[in-house]
Amino acid sequence: MADGDSHDENNSQIIKLVRFFMGAKLLGQTKLVVGDTIVEHAESAGVNIPTNCTSGTCGTCMVTLLSGEVPLPDVLPPGLDEYMIEQDARLGCIGMPTTDCEIDIRPPL
Ligand code: FES
Repeated sequence: MADGDSHDENNSQIIKLVRFFMGAKLLGQTKLVVGDTIVEHAESAGVNIPTNCTSGTCGTCMVTLLSGEVPLPDVLPPGLDEYMIEQDARLGCIGMPTTDCEIDIRPPL
């Protein structure tokens, strides 16, 4: 039996990754779980993103989206404004990646 005893994982589904950086340094990475927040992905990757309100209000969890997609809510939360979005800011506590992402855990500045 060729592959009978191994896990029958079908490689047709490509694993997507969320990767966390500080500058050029890779801090950790984890598999994309659609519906999980950036902070939850960071925990899975062993990376700490500080949080406070966890509701999009305070901005403590602000990170920089280097690549990939983290859709914004229709109504911007108090912790984010248009200027910060232009700088690729996202809020880790409410932002949910939908594809491969690279994230710098620091806010844009
Ligand atoms: S922890 Fe307050 S905006 Fe995310």
